[in-house]
Amino acid sequence: MVQTKVNCRIIIYSTTLVLLVFLQQVYTFCPSICTCEGDPNVRTWCIGVGLDVVPIQLNPDVRFINLTANQITHVHFTLTFYYKLEVLDLSMNRIEALGSRNFDTQANLRTLNLSENAIAAIPKDAFRGLKRLQVLKLCRNRVETVHSAAFHDLRNLIELDLSGNALTSLEPATLRHLYSLEVLSFQNNQLLEVPYERNLEHLGRLQLLDLSVNLLEYVANDSFVALRELRTLKLGGNILTELDVGAFHGLNGLKALDIVDNNLTVVPTLQLSKLCNLTYLSLSGNYFEGLPAVAFLNLFQLQQLHLDRLDRLAWIDARAFVDNTNLRILTLDDNPSFTSLPLRLFHSNPNLAEISMRRNALIRLDAVHFPLDRLHRLELAGNPLVCNCSLLWLWRLTTGYGLHESSDFRLIVPAAAAAAALITAAQPPEPPQDEAVPVAARAHHGLRIDRDEIGCDRYEDGRRTRHLLRAMTEGDIDCPTHLVTVVSAVLSILLVLATGASVLYVLRASRRRKQLLTDDDDPRRKAGVTELIVPHPQKVDRLELERYLAQQQSLVNEYRALRAPWELPLPVKEDLKYGSVAATGRELAPASGPTTDHYETLDYYQHQHQQQQQQQQQQQKRTLSRPHIVFV
Ligand SMILES: *[C@@H]1O[C@H](CO)[C@@H](O)[C@H](O)[C@H]1NC(C)=O
Ligand SMILES: *[C@@H]1O[C@H](CO)[C@@H](O)[C@H](O)[C@H]1NC(C)=O
Ligand SMILES: *[C@@H]1O[C@H](CO)[C@@H](O)[C@H](O)[C@H]1NC(C)=O
Ligand SMILES: *[C@@H]1O[C@H](CO)[C@@H](O)[C@H](O)[C@H]1NC(C)=O
Ligand SMILES: *[C@@H]1O[C@H](CO)[C@@H](O)[C@H](O)[C@H]1NC(C)=O
Ligand SMILES: *[C@@H]1O[C@H](CO)[C@@H](O)[C@H](O)[C@H]1NC(C)=O
Repeated sequence: MVQTKVNCRIIIYSTTLVLLVFLQQVYTFCPSICTCEGDPNVRTWCIGVGLDVVPIQLNPDVRFINLTANQITHVHFTLTFYYKLEVLDLSMNRIEALGSRNFDTQANLRTLNLSENAIAAIPKDAFRGLKRLQVLKLCRNRVETVHSAAFHDLRNLIELDLSGNALTSLEPATLRHLYSLEVLSFQNNQLLEVPYERNLEHLGRLQLLDLSVNLLEYVANDSFVALRELRTLKLGGNILTELDVGAFHGLNGLKALDIVDNNLTVVPTLQLSKLCNLTYLSLSGNYFEGLPAVAFLNLFQLQQLHLDRLDRLAWIDARAFVDNTNLRILTLDDNPSFTSLPLRLFHSNPNLAEISMRRNALIRLDAVHFPLDRLHRLELAGNPLVCNCSLLWLWRLTTGYGLHESSDFRLIVPAAAAAAALITAAQPPEPPQDEAVPVAARAHHGLRIDRDEIGCDRYEDGRRTRHLLRAMTEGDIDCPTHLVTVVSAVLSILLVLATGASVLYVLRASRRRKQLLTDDDDPRRKAGVTELIVPHPQKVDRLELERYLAQQQSLVNEYRALRAPWELPLPVKEDLKYGSVAATGRELAPASGPTTDHYETLDYYQHQHQQQQQQQQQQQKRTLSRPHIVFV
């Protein structure tokens, strides 16, 4: 009897134990295909395991359920027990309908991810009860209609993502109760107009609004006027052709505006000029033909400007960016009609640090186009630049050749940096750059350039070939020597020669004049002058003319009647007058009688002068050798 009693007890105990263990297991049941985590944060993951319903036997205290990538088709009556749920991820399933009041007990739910399902409509009570919901993701579904009361309870919603759906419009007052909303995306829908009235106008706390990739053609006056807190507005990928003058009225706090890939044909200068706090602007992918002067009026805070893929852009006014004194980053990539960059374009942008102008149609770029001493990044690849001497500066930048010794633009590109480092190895490394230090105030910096891609074109036999600039030698770019040095040296030599020659000439002239004047009392010469100049004008050379003029000065009374040298008869006439007398001085000299002496004197003078001249020329040569040392 005792033994059976004991046996009974053992059986009872063990049964209770088994029962207890079993109950315990039921209480914290975790399907074998899922992963569960216990207290204090009860969490469950059942990811990509082919579930077709939400498991109902999980810990009722569960706070986090991740059911992403399953085959769940509905949420009817399956979430009722999980009233402590805070995060529910149902993304990448096959949910087609949300039904009514299925989240009624999820008063603690903060995050609900329903993206990548097949939801077509959001009925009236779909999200009823989600009073604490902060994040609702409905992206990449097929939502065409949202009931105007569907979001009625979501007063604490901060982020609503409806991107990748098929919305064409919103019912009035759909967004009305979303007082707390800060982020709203309608990206990639088919909205025909900005849902402002009775919708956006209630979202006084909105910071980011994404309306990109819709079918907006037009933005009316005051379309965002109540969005006082808006920081980012995305309107890219629409078909905007027009913006009302007051389209951006009220967006005083806007920092970033994206209007890429639209149909704008002129820069909306006036509309943008209201956005006084704008720091980022992208207008890429529009149809501007040019950027007029002060195209970005009043945008003094602008730091980043993107003007890429402007197929028709052909010109930029040199004053286009004058108001944008804080501009730091500018991209002008892929503008196939843009052939010439104006000089001084960046003169009023002292903070410009990064410029990208890749794949345009630029054929010529000069160093003066860019504030090279301030730039940190310069990208110029893919332009049909002509390989010639004008490109020497760019060749130097890409090869790093001779940069470390150049004092006029303190540039260090990666290859040259090593060389420069060797030179300045003794100096301690620079302290890290403080972002607050204005770019212009930094003494030394590296310039990053897309040196591995920049090429230039050479035209040979009408064929164009692109050469990598970095792989070329200095001679390849048609600058066989340092052209500037050569030109300046040649010019200097010419200048010195010219000065020397004129000095010599003056010296010679004055000395001769002096000597002739001292000879004036020689009576033979008084007679000789008349005979020399008048009857034998073909023998009159500049020397004699000068002597004549000198004598004229001293003997002005005697020779007043003499004809001025320019009045002398033409040699042809004289030849006729004197028959066939040969016109050489030696033959004429005996016939002229009294002038023989004079000619001898003259020859003597000439001889003397030649000697002097030779001496002076030798001296001159000596003085001339100096510039060679200086300039070459
Ligand atoms: C759920 O799991 C997926 C896949 O691991 C992950 O990408 C996702 O972030 C998770 N969801 C949440 C809310 O943590
Ligand atoms: C669903 O959304 C939540 C909240 O944004 C996010 O944390 C989670 O990673 C998303 N799930 C997936 C699979 O991306
Ligand atoms: C938009 O507002 C401007 C004044 O801010 C006004 O001149 C213009 O006519 C308005 N446009 C329309 C379509 O009402
Ligand atoms: C925007 O600019 C105005 C005046 O220029 C200034 O008063 C205001 O504080 C700025 N707002 C923000 C959010 O920076
Ligand atoms: C917008 O521009 C594209 C490309 O030029 C053109 O095909 C389209 O018809 C334009 N749309 C409108 C509404 O002007
Ligand atoms: C180099 O080519 C460009 C473009 O054809 C031309 O404008 C420039 O004058 C040329 N420079 C020299 C030094 O020949």
